[in-house]
Amino acid sequence: MGEHSELNSAELVEHLSDEEKVDLISGRGLWKTAAIEKLGIVSIVMTDGTYGVRYSTTQIEAGDSDENDLAAFQALVNQQADDNMFGSTRPATCFPNGNLLGCSWDVELAARVGDALAAECLSMGVRLLLGPGINTRRTPLAGRAYEYYSEDPVINGELAAALINALQDRGVGTSLKHFACNNSELDRTTMSSDVDERALREIYLAGFERAIAKSNPWTVMSAYNPINGVQASEHAWLLTDVLRRQWGYEGLVVSDWHAIKDRVASIAAGCDLDMPESAPRKRRLLAALKSGHADRARLDDACRRVLNLVRKCSTAQPSAPVDLETHHQLARRIAAESIVLLKNRDDVLPLDPARLNRIVVIGDGAIHPQIQGSGSATTNPYRVDLPIERLRARSGASLRMDHIRSPAFAQGQENETVANILADCAGADTIIVFAENAKSRNGEGNDRDSLELEPWQNTTIAALAAANHAVIVVLSMPDAVAMPWLRDVDAVLAAFYPGQGGGEAITQIIFGEQNPCGKLSATMPVRIEDIPGWHSYPGENRHHVYSEGIFVGYRFYDRKKLEPLFPFGHGLSYTQFSYETLSLDRQDIGADDVCEVAFTLRNSGARQGKEIVQLYIRPIEPDLARPLRELKAFTKVDLKPEEAKTVTFTLSRRDFCHYDPAEGLWVLRAKAFAIEVGASSRDIRQTAELYCRPDTRPARKLSPASTPAEVLSDPSAERVLRNLIGDKLGFSAEETEAIIEKISGSFLGIYDTISWYLDDKLQEEEIADALANLHQ
Ligand code: BGC
Repeated sequence: MGEHSELNSAELVEHLSDEEKVDLISGRGLWKTAAIEKLGIVSIVMTDGTYGVRYSTTQIEAGDSDENDLAAFQALVNQQADDNMFGSTRPATCFPNGNLLGCSWDVELAARVGDALAAECLSMGVRLLLGPGINTRRTPLAGRAYEYYSEDPVINGELAAALINALQDRGVGTSLKHFACNNSELDRTTMSSDVDERALREIYLAGFERAIAKSNPWTVMSAYNPINGVQASEHAWLLTDVLRRQWGYEGLVVSDWHAIKDRVASIAAGCDLDMPESAPRKRRLLAALKSGHADRARLDDACRRVLNLVRKCSTAQPSAPVDLETHHQLARRIAAESIVLLKNRDDVLPLDPARLNRIVVIGDGAIHPQIQGSGSATTNPYRVDLPIERLRARSGASLRMDHIRSPAFAQGQENETVANILADCAGADTIIVFAENAKSRNGEGNDRDSLELEPWQNTTIAALAAANHAVIVVLSMPDAVAMPWLRDVDAVLAAFYPGQGGGEAITQIIFGEQNPCGKLSATMPVRIEDIPGWHSYPGENRHHVYSEGIFVGYRFYDRKKLEPLFPFGHGLSYTQFSYETLSLDRQDIGADDVCEVAFTLRNSGARQGKEIVQLYIRPIEPDLARPLRELKAFTKVDLKPEEAKTVTFTLSRRDFCHYDPAEGLWVLRAKAFAIEVGASSRDIRQTAELYCRPDTRPARKLSPASTPAEVLSDPSAERVLRNLIGDKLGFSAEETEAIIEKISGSFLGIYDTISWYLDDKLQEEEIADALANLHQ
C-alpha cells in the first residue's frame, strides 16, 4: 500500500472522501475490489467457485465497469451445463462437486481440495475464492443442491472449515456462502424463507457457526433471499446480532451478486461490500450520504473491513503455474473415495475382467459424462475422463466392451427401441447403464420439478433386469432421483457430479481397484411427496414456510417413521466392519462436562477398506420436541483385513443441547441420552446410556392467566397463592386446602378460576402483583 502502508485500516479510512468510500465498498466491475491509487490501496481479484476456479479472461482482464456486466453475469448464471459455456474461461481442475465431496465425510480430502484450489487461484492471480457454499440440502429438488455438501450441519461445518483453512493457510481468502437459508432457486431473490428460530439455530445457521468457529473465513456472503421477510443482505439480526455479536465474527460480509436492494439498509445491517459494482446503487448511496441518510459510522466500519481484507489478500505470492495433471490425479482420487455404492446384490461388484467375456455399456453418460452442475460455480475442466475409455482400458483380448448410445425415445416407438437394446445385449455377461436425471429445470436459477431420470432409462433398466441380465446402474445427478427399478437391478453406484476424474473413479470401483467408501450425506426419498416440507414447497405469495421446522432431512424421516429409499449415512463397501465394545468415560453429563466415547472398529472382511463411522445422540425425555437422533461426530477409518482400531470421540455440552427460543439460549435438558455409533442413521451398531444433570429451569413467568396447575407447580408461587387465600382473605388452613383442591384441575387462568369460586374477593391486580414480585 505504498507510502501509506504504515497506516492501519482505521487511519486509512480517515483519508478517504465520500466518493472513495463508496467506491471501496462497491467493488469494481464483476470480479474486483476498487483500487484507490492515492493511498496505494490495490484491487483484488475474486471469482467462483467451490469445486474449481472459474477464471473468465474477458470478464476479469477486460476493462473495468463494463456496461455489459449485468448481461454477462446473467448469462453466466443461467448457462446450462450443455451449452458451450467455457468460451473465455481458463482451463482449471473440475473437482467433485459439493454433492459428491459431501459423501466423502473426509475432512482431510476437503483440505486437499482447498490446497489445490489455492494453488490454482494463486497461479491465476485470484485472491479470494467465492466458496464454499454450505446451504442445507433441505430438498433434493433444489437447483443448487449439487454445490452443497449435506442436509446435516455437522458435515457442512466440518468440510467447509477444512477447505477454508487449507485455502487461507496459503493466503487465498474464502467466502462462506450463502448466509442464510438459500435452499431453493425458485424466485430466489424475492421468496422469503420463513423459518422458526429453533430451525435457524439448530439447522440452517449451525453449519455456518461451526465453520466460522473452526476456520474464520475472511468473508461471509449474504444470500439472495429474504429471511422471515427481510432481505438477507439487509438483515441486522442475522449479520450483526448473530454473526458478529453472538459468534464474534470479525471478517467481511460481501453481498451475493446484485443481492442488495437497499444499499443504505444493507450498510446499517452489517453488509460491508456490495458486489458486483453497480452504478445505480453507488449513486443512491452517495446521495444518501450527502443528505445525511446513511449511517456514517457503519460505512466506515465497512471501509475498514474491505481494507483489512485487501491487506490479507495481498500477502500471498503469485505462484508458478500449477501442474494440472497432478490435480487431475487428485480429482480422480477424491471422486473414488466419495462415490457411494448404494446396492450390491450377491456381491456382483467388483467385476473381475478375467471372468467376463462381454460387457455392454449403455448411455451417453459414458461418452459425454455430466461431471458438474450448471450456474456460476461451473469450471472449464482441463481434461475429462470418459467412462467408456477408462472402462475399455481394462478390457483385453478376452473381454469385449460394447457401447450403446442413449436412444431417442420417440413416442409410440418405445417398445421397439427397448427391444433393439435387448437384442444388442444378448449374450452379454454384464450391462452397465449410465443414467442421469432428466435435464429440464436444473442448476442455478431453477429447481428440479421431478426426481425422474431421463425418460428412456427407467424402461430400459427394468427391461434389462426382467431379461435376467446382471445390471449395474451408475447414477450422475445433482441429488436424489427416483429408482422404480431398484429391487430388480444388481448394483447401483451414486456418482453425483464427480468432476473431471469421475470416469476413472467409477471404473476403479467397478473393477475393485478402489474399495468404495463414500456414504450418503443426504437422505434419498422414495417419492417426491416424502420430501420434508413438501406440502409447503416452494412457497407462495413470496413466503416459503419451512413447515418441517427442525425436522430436516433424516430428522423428518425418523420423526414420521418413513422408510427412505436410502437413509442418511448409507454406503456399502467390498469388505465388512464390526463395531465392538462401546464405552463412555462417565455415567452422567452436566453443564460443563465433556464425555469421551470409545469403541473398537474391526475390518472383519477380506479387503482393505475405509469405514465412515457416525456418532448420534438420542435424547431421552427432553423438555422440548427433539429429533429422534442427531449426528454429532464422524470419522473415516482405514483398516486392513482383520485389523482393529480404537475410535474415540469427545462430546461437549453443546453436542447435547437444543436451542430454547423462549429463553434465547442453548439448554441442556433431558433425562438422559443414548450415545449411538453406527454405519448409517438407520444402522446403529452400539449404544450406551448417559444420564443427564439438566440445567435448572428459570422460573416461568407467571400471570393471572397462568393455569392453577402452572402456579402450583412452582413452590414459591404456590406459597404466594396460599398466603393470598389464607392471610389476605382470612380462610383457615383447611378451607385454603379445600379451595386449592377445587381450583387445581381448572384449565382456565388462576384469576378466572378463583373469581368463579370466591366472587371477586381477590382482585386480578393483586394476583398480578404478587406473581410479578416473584420475578423481581
Ligand atoms: C451466486 C454466487 C456466486 C456469484 C458470483 C451468484 O449468482 O449465487 O454463488 O458466487 O453469483 O458468480
